[in-house]
Amino acid sequence: MTISLSGQSVLVVGAGGGVGRATLEAFAQQGAIVTAAGRPGDALSAAAAVAGVAPTPLDFLDNDAVEAFFAANGPFDHVVIAAASTKSGSVAGLDLDAAKSAMESKFWGAYRVARAAKVNAGGSITLVSGFLSNRPSAGAVLQGAINAALEALGRGLALERAPVRVNTVSPGMVNTPLWHGMSETDRDGMFERTAARLPAGRIGQPEDIASAILFVATNPFATGSTITVDGGGTIA
Ligand SMILES: NC(=O)c1ccc[n+]([C@@H]2O[C@H](COP(=O)([O-])OP(=O)(O)OC[C@H]3O[C@@H](n4cnc5c(N)ncnc54)[C@H](OP(=O)(O)O)[C@@H]3O)[C@@H](O)[C@H]2O)c1
Repeated sequence: MTISLSGQSVLVVGAGGGVGRATLEAFAQQGAIVTAAGRPGDALSAAAAVAGVAPTPLDFLDNDAVEAFFAANGPFDHVVIAAASTKSGSVAGLDLDAAKSAMESKFWGAYRVARAAKVNAGGSITLVSGFLSNRPSAGAVLQGAINAALEALGRGLALERAPVRVNTVSPGMVNTPLWHGMSETDRDGMFERTAARLPAGRIGQPEDIASAILFVATNPFATGSTITVDGGGTIA
């Protein structure tokens, strides 16, 4: 099926990230008028340039900035929130302030944007969670809790915001800058071990997640859904 998004306006928050950039490109390739929003920097500028637009600085920790943005922009046809900055760890091992900051970013950041977003009827909001919501890991307990909270937020907002559709895409391990804090050797080793364990036989690429985001955003019957794209990580 060919999708045309010609003339439709799409906001991607976190457009400088791995998933965000692939999503921005996917929508732009379908003819959408895209807005590349996120923390200013080289990554955001590069993503915006590929899509042929100027970068839009937007810090989703700053509620005044989020509200001012939507007062001045939109309504949009589709809004995608792919931003997050979170430290991971066990409950015992992670400093409490760092744990709260993670929730403040990934959950409350998405909440702020979804709360303020002006979206046309029949349009969509897509959240990005993660497969740890259903497949907890002892080393990343909080991530699972944040992801589960986001998925519940998405289902509830699908009722509150109807006829705007609200969905969540839940990725497994994806090769993005999120992992760039690790050494290349450690990261490659982790990717290889994970790929060997997964039924799909590989880890994800940002485009795998972008295609799921495009699907839920454009399918008029998709709302209140959580689409897991994890290479079988939940069942492995
Ligand atoms: N990659 C994976 O394996 C994986 C697995 C499961 C779930 N996920 C989820 O998928 C989503 C996208 O992750 P990703 O892999 O694309 O990560 P990423 O490459 O690290 O991208 C995250 C983006 O969010 C932006 N951001 C962080 N704080 C922000 C703020 N306060 N305001 C605006 N933008 C902000 C970052 O900007 P800066 O460049 O300024 O930091 C970055 O562009 C996240 O929710 C992540 O938790 C990823």
